Amino acid sequence: MDLLTFARGPALQWSLIIFAVGMLWRLIGILLLRRKPDHTEPRSTATWRGALKLIATRSWPKREFWATTAFGQTIGYVFHIGLAIVILGFVPHILFIRSLTGLDWPGLPNSLIYLSGAITVAALIAALIRRISNPVMRMLSNFDDYFSWFVTIAPVVTGLLAVAHLGARYETLLAIHILSICLLLIWMPFGKLMHTVLIFVSRGTTGALFARKGAST
Ligand code: HEM
Ligand code: HEM
Repeated sequence: MDLLTFARGPALQWSLIIFAVGMLWRLIGILLLRRKPDHTEPRSTATWRGALKLIATRSWPKREFWATTAFGQTIGYVFHIGLAIVILGFVPHILFIRSLTGLDWPGLPNSLIYLSGAITVAALIAALIRRISNPVMRMLSNFDDYFSWFVTIAPVVTGLLAVAHLGARYETLLAIHILSICLLLIWMPFGKLMHTVLIFVSRGTTGALFARKGAST
């Protein structure tokens, strides 16, 4: 079996299974955590509204913190939006998602995908430099932070190398691209990349608790 057949076949299939089972396992585990009963009188029963409100308000920094957080926030928004454009806008990716789910939507021009890919790589490198050069952030960072960064940037870099035919045969580059995606899929449920889903669970829970207590957010 050649590398591309292995990557497209068993490697991708097993990674998708580990991803799906791992995500469900983590989510169900967290949602089933026992909560202490709360006997206080609720100030409001609009907990869902509170949850949605906090998810929205925490997505933007408060004006008081803007001066110190603007750079990091901007980098974060740039690479997340870049990733979304590249993953969901590139025609071969849409075909892949369609083969898995049956869902379909129009793709974006390739030039826009390549530009977004390049900007995403630059923003992710800026995020890493910021993490390493800030003494407090460096002290707070562990293996998970660096490995999650690596598995995020790897598919973008390998995808760009594949379309540029840079460094090896196209089939080999494509196989490496797919293997880097396998690594991302396998790591996603177990490391900090789980924030993709948990950020909504944690902000939603806090928002619902605030609403119950009648606290303003
Ligand atoms: C709806 C989905 C997502 C949301 C709401 C989200 C939100 C966030 C937030 C709030 C941060 C902290 C940013 C900061 O330090 O200023 C973050 C960091 C990060 N996210 Fe996401 N994220 C999402 C999906 C993803 C996905 C799918 C990936 C990768 C495939 C990813 C990769 C990262 C990485 C690598 C960092 C750390 C960047 C650093 O080193 O500073 N995120 N995300
Ligand atoms: C600018 C960045 C990227 C470029 C230029 C790119 C390019 C490509 C190309 C050319 C293919 C092969 C299409 C084919 O011949 O079948 C492909 C497949 C794929 N890419 Fe990317 N890619 C990029 C980023 C990403 C990222 C960030 C992800 C996910 C995290 C991703 C996920 C996939 C998947 C799941 C496939 C399908 C594999 C298959 O056909 O079996 N790509 N990509």
